Amino acid sequence: MGILSAPGVRIEPRDPRTQSQGVEPGYEQTARRWPSQPLQRRPQSASELAGPLRVERRLQPVRGDLAGYGAKRALGQLIHLRARVVDEDGMPVRGAVVEVWHCNAAGKYIHPNDTHDAPPDPNFYGAARLVAGDSGLVELRTIKPGAYPVPDSGGWWRPPHVHFSVWGRVWLSRLVTQMFFPGEPLNDSDAILNAIRDPEARLRCIARLVPADNYLAYEYQLVVRGRKATPGMP
Ligand SMILES: [Fe+2]
Repeated sequence: MGILSAPGVRIEPRDPRTQSQGVEPGYEQTARRWPSQPLQRRPQSASELAGPLRVERRLQPVRGDLAGYGAKRALGQLIHLRARVVDEDGMPVRGAVVEVWHCNAAGKYIHPNDTHDAPPDPNFYGAARLVAGDSGLVELRTIKPGAYPVPDSGGWWRPPHVHFSVWGRVWLSRLVTQMFFPGEPLNDSDAILNAIRDPEARLRCIARLVPADNYLAYEYQLVVRGRKATPGMP
């Protein structure tokens, strides 16, 4: 988020220390994802700046329980995820639409492009869409995702992570990012996480483990704008 501006308002450039950008060595896909030509500014239309009136009416909520999709509970470590959507002042962004997706405990996505030789889990569905309440909170019951290898990368394994897409009040207001888990050794070598140069900004991408019975509970903040905005990640 943070890309919207009223006419005449300057858009601040991204902070290269706290946001990943450009082509990363050893991370082949960034060459395809990052523009090779200078950006061109074009006027935004009224509907882009103002529509739709309520994103959550177009994007209906889908499942809040990825671990209980099938007849049995999904395989893996049961976790509860509490993510709060806030602005730069820590104020909740009520009504933000939060899409969540991740792989199963064996590191397998429900997606035809996933060629990783890991078993699917018929009791796991890997995606949800939630709407933040008055406190900006979304909650998800799921299992902890596994690590998986990046194809043709020479041994790069992605650490366990959860993908988020956060929609604000209009279509252009969107943050796509990833959340990581504390204490994971693969965090130290992950090209996506470490494309963020600032160690403090990287730490903000790692969820916090909090005490709970019968499951592991993690808390996380999705900061949609400002100096401490959550970095965008594919
Ligand atoms: Fe992923």
